[in-house]
Amino acid sequence: MTRILGIESSCDETAAAVVVNGHDVQSNVVASQVELHRKFGGVVPEIASRAHIECIHNVVRMALEEAKCEPADIDAIAYTCRPGLVGSLLIGATAAKTLGWAWKKPLIAVNHVEAHAVSGSIGVDPAPWPAVALVVSGGHTSLYLVTDFDSVKLLGSTIDDAAGEAFDKVATMLGLGYPGGPVIDRVSASGDPKAHAFPRTLLDSESLDFSFSGLKTAVRYKIHGTGQTTGGLEQLSEKDIADIAASFQQAVVDVLVKKTMRAVAQTGATTVVLGGGVAANRSLRQSLEAECSDRKLAFYAPKMAYCVDNAAMIASLGFHMHAKGQTVAFDGDVCAR
Ligand code: KG4
Ligand code: ZN
Repeated sequence: MTRILGIESSCDETAAAVVVNGHDVQSNVVASQVELHRKFGGVVPEIASRAHIECIHNVVRMALEEAKCEPADIDAIAYTCRPGLVGSLLIGATAAKTLGWAWKKPLIAVNHVEAHAVSGSIGVDPAPWPAVALVVSGGHTSLYLVTDFDSVKLLGSTIDDAAGEAFDKVATMLGLGYPGGPVIDRVSASGDPKAHAFPRTLLDSESLDFSFSGLKTAVRYKIHGTGQTTGGLEQLSEKDIADIAASFQQAVVDVLVKKTMRAVAQTGATTVVLGGGVAANRSLRQSLEAECSDRKLAFYAPKMAYCVDNAAMIASLGFHMHAKGQTVAFDGDVCAR
């Protein structure tokens, strides 16, 4: 039995989790900073790092308490080393190194995006590889071919906005607040996804890259008009806003599903896994599941708690890395990219 303490602090969630053997999540504590950043309409890096410092100690203590374990029961500490906000990453990494040094535990440096990519495998034994992984978060929209926990090959990614970023920006345009993903998901339920034919940018026909800036501009024009003459948010009814939100969401989902199926065709994979904050989107989960079922592909989406940033996915991937002896020295760096 191997028990890993995971620590995640790459953006605006301070998180710690205790996971046994990569699957048995004994605790998963997340302190969200959303309220601190809401009035700025996005994450303010300096505020994020300060908030991480203030709560990381308590978050780790709560994770140990909930898992009913002592430092002596922990076999190794996994922390997010990249990518993310550098000041935020430093707090989690420093906490992990300090505890590792004091408790004499080995350290595992985990890539946050790779942890999202394999988060759908938590609780799936044997592991579902090989698989095409779609990672959709606030900072990333990428397709990977995962052949093992330490073999995650990039197939394509966004050339401009990430999917979650597009959700957040469109929600701001629609006056729906921050963070945009959950609120667009909710509001879309009462809107018509066919009300507006927003562009589905697929780039050239074989490409596995994404682009959401044209879609974002189309939404802006729909709200404000293309000239000086029409529009404005104040002229839209609740139903208009719900229709725009639902049509925008449908355009994002259509592109994500189509590109994922293109990756399946190009790689010959028979399994699809989903990960990242936008993986919490109900329409995306349902559409991918339906498409996979039509094509007789296996489909794994993470539990809701493992979609947005969390440390269970860091500890879980950390377990598989630890099993392969992939530990790091105490002077390992963090990296924004
Ligand atoms: O993975 P995550 O917590 O952080 C990053 O690694 O970036 O993802 C956060 C993103 C935000 O952009 C948020 O709006 C989006 O995930 N998100 C959603 C939903 N829940 C969170 N997007 C669409 N639908 C949701 N239900
Ligand atoms: Zn993330």
